[in-house]
Amino acid sequence: MTPDVYTAPMQNPEKEWFGEKHVTPDEKTGLVRGVFDSVADRYDLMNDLMSGGLHRLWKNRLIRMIRPRNGLSYLDVAGGTGDIAFRIKKTAPNSAITICDLNPNMLEVGKNRAIDKGWLNDFEFVTGNAESLPFPDQSFDVYTIAFGLRNVTRIDTALKEAVRVLKPGGRFFCLEFSPRQLPVLDKIYGLYSDAVIPRLGKLIANDSESYQYLVESIRKFPSPRALSRRMEDSGMAGAKCALLSGGIVAIHQAVIP
Ligand SMILES: C[S@@+](CC[C@H](N)C(=O)[O-])C[C@H]1O[C@@H](n2cnc3c(N)ncnc32)[C@H](O)[C@@H]1O
Repeated sequence: MTPDVYTAPMQNPEKEWFGEKHVTPDEKTGLVRGVFDSVADRYDLMNDLMSGGLHRLWKNRLIRMIRPRNGLSYLDVAGGTGDIAFRIKKTAPNSAITICDLNPNMLEVGKNRAIDKGWLNDFEFVTGNAESLPFPDQSFDVYTIAFGLRNVTRIDTALKEAVRVLKPGGRFFCLEFSPRQLPVLDKIYGLYSDAVIPRLGKLIANDSESYQYLVESIRKFPSPRALSRRMEDSGMAGAKCALLSGGIVAIHQAVIP
């Protein structure tokens, strides 16, 4: 069972988890970059196959909770191939949307998708780390991070960066897999994660290791309750969380006081 309080890096601040491996923080960031370098071309297809298309419903739910409006500025961190930013654009076509990701290859796939939609000039694509965002203080109304926070080496640093770049009254949203599910789902999901996902990764992206890492990173992620606490400790207020699909994923939200 995942502990409620995320203790591993606190016990040894020089070490981080990369899946089941213990590595230095810098090594972890480099390894995560390598994972997404390796899967960028097949990322969208794999997302559909691994989740049976469910990721689309989870992302749509996130957008309904955000209720995007024209005239606001949106930052999608770990924005990858653009799924969240494109949905915001669809709902609020006259808004300023920035997609930021550690990995230029993921952003390149996102740019090509934007070109296909006739939207290339409608987004800022920025390479950057969630832990040290290349943006001034108080520059965005809404910050989103979908299936990204569990890959970030120092989660609390990233949360504080979110607080820094958001305006007072700005809103923070995080969509992420949750390490805790209903007991009955836990078994099925565990079998699926260990047996099916790495095999699919091998078959489709010729890379079972990267997908093994993605599965393991979910198990290491803090529980919804612990993450809500850490959001508030980082300076956010009113942290709350909605569990989706029996608790397989969670949408966290909070405001900047
Ligand atoms: C699982 S993908 C999610 C992509 C997209 N948000 C989605 O929901 O489809 C995770 C993304 O996080 C990015 N990432 C990992 N660590 C990051 C960091 N420290 N800062 C910014 N992006 C990061 C990866 O490059 C990758 O594009």
